[in-house]
Amino acid sequence: MKGIFISFEGIEGTGKSTQAKLLADYLKEKGYRVIQTMEPGGTRISMKIRELLLSLDSREMDNVTELLLYNAARVQHIKEVIEPALERGDIVITDRFSDSTVAYQGFARGIDLRLIESLDMIATSRLRPDITILLDIDVKTGLARNRALNKNDRLELEDISFHEKVRKGFIQIAAREPERVKLVDCSKGLDEVHRAVIEIISGFLEERNR
Ligand code: TMP
Repeated sequence: MKGIFISFEGIEGTGKSTQAKLLADYLKEKGYRVIQTMEPGGTRISMKIRELLLSLDSREMDNVTELLLYNAARVQHIKEVIEPALERGDIVITDRFSDSTVAYQGFARGIDLRLIESLDMIATSRLRPDITILLDIDVKTGLARNRALNKNDRLELEDISFHEKVRKGFIQIAAREPERVKLVDCSKGLDEVHRAVIEIISGFLEERNR
């Protein structure tokens, strides 16, 4: 496909959506056509699935139901938004993609990673971001930032040890795929993180245009 697929990943409270927006604005200013989107979400059906997943009313949801629903939302997102944009040659920036499933449902919930891989094959046919920015912060700081924003959905309310496992999962993914996944320490200020993100993405675009 002609376009470029960028994802932001990380635990809660890393400022992913803010950084995704800052990057989208920067690239638009440079003349690129950019689609900014998120998971679970990006389409009408995926947003309905998101509500079901994150509602405090879904407390009894089984882990496998959760896994299937994240994948279902992703299929719809790919078909309706991501693939058409990449085929047009646009840059797609998504706040979360399948690395989140590996970190949350795999590393944190403890679902067998091979099962997650097989489902991912069905849902994405192995579509992967060309480059992933992993925003990293210690769990206590991340959760405190989230609380300050009054965010408290079903997953955000999991205990610290859950979020520690998510963080470790992301760090392992980055270690396994250093070419694709770039870790950025986001304990620094917004501007400093944005500059680090731009440096990585500009380097990537230069390589690609060579
Ligand atoms: P967010 O949009 O605020 O990051 O919320 C999405 C929540 O869903 C967040 O707690 C991470 C979680 N999540 C998963 O557990 N698995 C997934 O595959 C995705 C995309 C998100």
